[in-house]
Amino acid sequence: MSMHDLSGKWVLVTGAASGIGRATALAFADAGASLFVADMNAERLETVRQEVMARGAECVVHALDVTDPGAMAELAQRVHSRTPALDVLVNNAGIGYLGAFIDSPLDAWHRVFSVNVMGVVHGCQAFLPAMEAAGGPRRVVNVASLAGLAPAPNMSAYVASKHAVVGLSEGLSLELKLRASSVGVTTVCPGIINTDITKARHNVAVTIDDAQYERLTAYYEAQGVGPRVVAIAIVSAVRQGRELVLAGPFAKPIYHLRRLSRRLAQWLMLADARKAGYV
Ligand code: NAI
Repeated sequence: MSMHDLSGKWVLVTGAASGIGRATALAFADAGASLFVADMNAERLETVRQEVMARGAECVVHALDVTDPGAMAELAQRVHSRTPALDVLVNNAGIGYLGAFIDSPLDAWHRVFSVNVMGVVHGCQAFLPAMEAAGGPRRVVNVASLAGLAPAPNMSAYVASKHAVVGLSEGLSLELKLRASSVGVTTVCPGIINTDITKARHNVAVTIDDAQYERLTAYYEAQGVGPRVVAIAIVSAVRQGRELVLAGPFAKPIYHLRRLSRRLAQWLMLADARKAGYV
């Protein structure tokens, strides 16, 4: 179901202190929505609150770790004391991980899955029941990645986590359709977006040397577009009730090429990774 007029709607964005989350919160504020913004980084969240309020929108900040289901339940209590149900839930918080499979320790796998996958699960569990009970057009937006549709080399933990987000989002969407729910699901698959995601050195395998790491960040800076591109696409998908968002460099071409020829798409992903110099 679509939601053309966003004024007065309540939107929650996780991972809202930076990058795509911050840009999405600001784009919803521009569209007249009221915001709950959540993130681990309380200091940067406060800056985002000021930016949202400067646009004349209401904004409630909540510091939390999306890997903690108790913290998500507390946020849900706070949200539901303001509104019976969210109109839009954006599960965006996520982390990257660069490293070959054999160089990716188990703790990295656990960390990536607990943020990227379980963070989405916790968000859906905490907010979806009230959204369904309230009725009317509402939407869950899960930020996956192009890597959730077309794997890139040397990031299998990240790729696997984003495939999981795509699968859970599509499965959930089918379930909701089965019971004729008024809540829809949108899966967001951005390409290369220039944000702080590549700047966390602790999310890189020890076998990736400084030169490789610098090439990766330089590649994102050169090839990536700003996160507002994704934010605008998310707001538009919510308005139109679209289920798949492909935004930013490579997202659409790689998605369509892979449907035509998986082998050609793989060749391109490998050539691009080699050119970028991070493999
Ligand atoms: P970012 O690093 O700029 O922002 C991520 C935000 O999530 C940060 O504010 C961080 O504090 C927060 N966060 C991380 N772990 C958290 C946790 N456990 N609990 C609460 N907050 C947490 O990164 P970016 O690029 O804006 O990423 C947002 C989403 O977009 C992620 O899910 C990412 O995987 C996805 N994405 C990013 C792409 C890119 O090229 N930048 C491409 C495809 C998908």
